[in-house]
Amino acid sequence: MLENLRIYVFVSAPCTRRFAIALILTICYSIWFNGENTDMSLPSSGNIVASNYLVLLPGDNTTQSLPREPYRLSELPSDDSSTLIDIKGFKFLMNHYPCNNTQPLILILIHSAPGNFVRRKTLRETWAQRSPLVSLLFFIGTSEKFQDRLEDENSKYKDLIQGNFVDVYRNMTYKHVMALKWTTYHCPNAKYILKLDDDVFVHVSAMVEFLTHDLTLLRNQRLILCDVSLSSPVKRTWRSKWRVSYLEYPGRYYPAYCLGWAILYTPDSVLLLYREAQREPYFWIDDIHITGIIAHKLNLTLISLHSLVLTTKKMTDMLSNSRIGGGFLFGPPDMSEDRMRALHSFLSTTRTVINLD
Ligand SMILES: *[C@@H]1O[C@H](CO)[C@@H](O)[C@H](O)[C@H]1NC(C)=O
Ligand SMILES: *[C@@H]1O[C@H](CO)[C@@H](O)[C@H](O)[C@H]1NC(C)=O
Ligand SMILES: *[C@@H]1O[C@H](CO)[C@@H](O)[C@H](O)[C@H]1NC(C)=O
Ligand SMILES: *[C@@H]1O[C@H](CO)[C@@H](O)[C@H](O)[C@H]1NC(C)=O
Repeated sequence: MLENLRIYVFVSAPCTRRFAIALILTICYSIWFNGENTDMSLPSSGNIVASNYLVLLPGDNTTQSLPREPYRLSELPSDDSSTLIDIKGFKFLMNHYPCNNTQPLILILIHSAPGNFVRRKTLRETWAQRSPLVSLLFFIGTSEKFQDRLEDENSKYKDLIQGNFVDVYRNMTYKHVMALKWTTYHCPNAKYILKLDDDVFVHVSAMVEFLTHDLTLLRNQRLILCDVSLSSPVKRTWRSKWRVSYLEYPGRYYPAYCLGWAILYTPDSVLLLYREAQREPYFWIDDIHITGIIAHKLNLTLISLHSLVLTTKKMTDMLSNSRIGGGFLFGPPDMSEDRMRALHSFLSTTRTVINLD
């Protein structure tokens, strides 16, 4: 079986504006599921070069014009709100409505485990501040052990969204679809949606600038922006934490997907993914399921943000030399709390130096 995946990868070149998108390269990856072949070439100009080969230039808005709303809530099945994939009787045990009267530029949905009290505290005390531009919530499932402490935390900060499924590893996809559901029902007017793990650092002012300036250069629909993983093989060995049986996923390779620690969605992508995820069979690796399998089925576009992730080495250099090493949107994945605090105070004290234009 031949699959044609279209991936638009952009590079940011040193320019007057930090994140100026100098050129958008399109790389066409043809992936055979029983073998793999990648082919990469760069045409010099033009828009649609071949049916599976596109170059989008900054400002291009000629392709795939869609109505703003992909569908209306009333078009969902009547029991949709109480259904989460195959769970009947789903409900939010904790809920908040920060978008009732505002339209945030960015809605940040942070997947957290019930016991991660310290991580949530670190985020709240560092970069994760709410503002008129930024709404921010933590998504958790249930845990008997921690429920009382979670109630206390929630009454203090009012930022936990809890669904009535057990918060365990193999239930991660419920959490992801719950976050898509929450957005669909309670915040469909956010301009962008950012899904994060709770050990991720976001450079918020750079993110706001990126969303309000650079991203508007792209046609702004059906997009998912992230660190893209291309054609990774399905793990079959029992030693792997990510072992998947042939029954769960028969293919040898996954489609291109977003590494789940930071995924930026346009709202239409969230709505389309949510509707489709509700009727797809459950697959427990949430980032592969949502941003790989389902996004591929819906022809959504993945854009790589890899060049805007700070590497550990660059961060170390930056912190020791007190000099900003280029623009970045995210700190390295899996950051410790100490590192997060260090990076946050570094950016807070050198804010005026950051804008290099
Ligand atoms: C594309 O952009 C141009 C210039 O900004 C505008 O005149 C045109 O109406 C836009 N087309 C669509 C389909 O949005
Ligand atoms: C996932 O959550 C459901 C609903 O709470 C529960 O029945 C199921 O046992 C959980 N899965 C695992 C692997 O614990
Ligand atoms: C916000 O909207 C939700 C429905 O999305 C509603 O249930 C809730 O009562 C509203 N809250 C306020 C404070 O208006
Ligand atoms: C995705 O694209 C393929 C090929 O261009 C097309 O056949 C299919 O109908 C599209 N699917 C959706 C959901 O748009």
